[in-house]
Amino acid sequence: MTVVPVSLGDRSYEIRIEAGLLAKAGEILRPLLRGRTMAIVTDDHLEFHLATLQASLEAAGVASEAIVLPAGESTKSWPHLETLTDKLLQLGIERSDHIIALGGGVIGDLVGFAASILKRGCNFVQIPTTLLAQVDSSVGGKTAINSRAGKNLVGAFHQPALVLIDPQVLDTLPPREARAGYAEVVKYGLIDDFAFFEWCEANGAALLAGDPAAREYAIAHSVAAKARIVAQDERETTGKRALLNLGHTFGHALEAETGFSDKLLHGEGVAAGMALAFAFSAEQGLCPRQDSERVAAHLRAVGLPDGLKAAGITASGGRLVEHMLHDKKMEAGTLPFLLARGIGQTYLDKTVNLGNIAAFLDAQPR
Ligand code: GLY
Repeated sequence: MTVVPVSLGDRSYEIRIEAGLLAKAGEILRPLLRGRTMAIVTDDHLEFHLATLQASLEAAGVASEAIVLPAGESTKSWPHLETLTDKLLQLGIERSDHIIALGGGVIGDLVGFAASILKRGCNFVQIPTTLLAQVDSSVGGKTAINSRAGKNLVGAFHQPALVLIDPQVLDTLPPREARAGYAEVVKYGLIDDFAFFEWCEANGAALLAGDPAAREYAIAHSVAAKARIVAQDERETTGKRALLNLGHTFGHALEAETGFSDKLLHGEGVAAGMALAFAFSAEQGLCPRQDSERVAAHLRAVGLPDGLKAAGITASGGRLVEHMLHDKKMEAGTLPFLLARGIGQTYLDKTVNLGNIAAFLDAQPR
């Protein structure tokens, strides 16, 4: 088992990674049981993994109660938050209890937020079941629901007490979702780790084909990078954690243009967004052109979109910038952008001219 610590003072916790961990989770979770029952929150596409987890808990002598919500982004909403908190209260959950979030980013974000407000703050454990959740959203304590005004606008920083990652659960993940999650893996190389980007170039295809060693290495490396960054800037105040949003401002515009639908998954938007951030950096003379071409080539090689055309976007630059202005990353009227001086050299630039962004996007192939 690989154990990655997240060092946050009295909110510190461990990320444990091991193939087959779900079937052993009962033994690990048993010491966390406080009340009579452990609540597991999951979605209706994950009955198979739920059965494995509940069998493991039962074998460890832990009674569990499952709350099964509909799969999909619309579950990250006020109505489902209300239903979920009501059910948790009916189960008699106390502050010292640990609520288990078994699922992808939607379940992790919703359950984390519910845990942050229930009885003014309960413990929760993340058991992420998608590659995206395993390498990004389950770690670092960002929790949220969507509201009428936009995605993730209502939420809290609330760290889990433990993260259990079983790479084997990815065997049942649709290939398109695995690829989308892989964009967040590549992101760590592009932020500040050129050697890891080279590893991705050499091993990304094997990882996506299900190679267990490649998968485990990439997950462990990614969460270690995220843990390091979150430990330095838990609440995204110094600009360090903001680096994790590489590709997200461009990507947000593309996702908004496609109505946050299955036309473009979040990770696909991030992939195209990272390619655009590098291409814009190259156009501005900040980054060697060969680096931006190398990023796009790797994304293409694994079947991820490398720009507007591959993402199926025909909107004008002005319209895409309008979408960016509705993103929550606006700061005192300006939009900070993550740009790059090269692969592994991402930095936050608060002086980007939005007219230049619109003109750059207009010039991109459609
Ligand atoms: N996914 C970005 C962050 O956790 O800060």
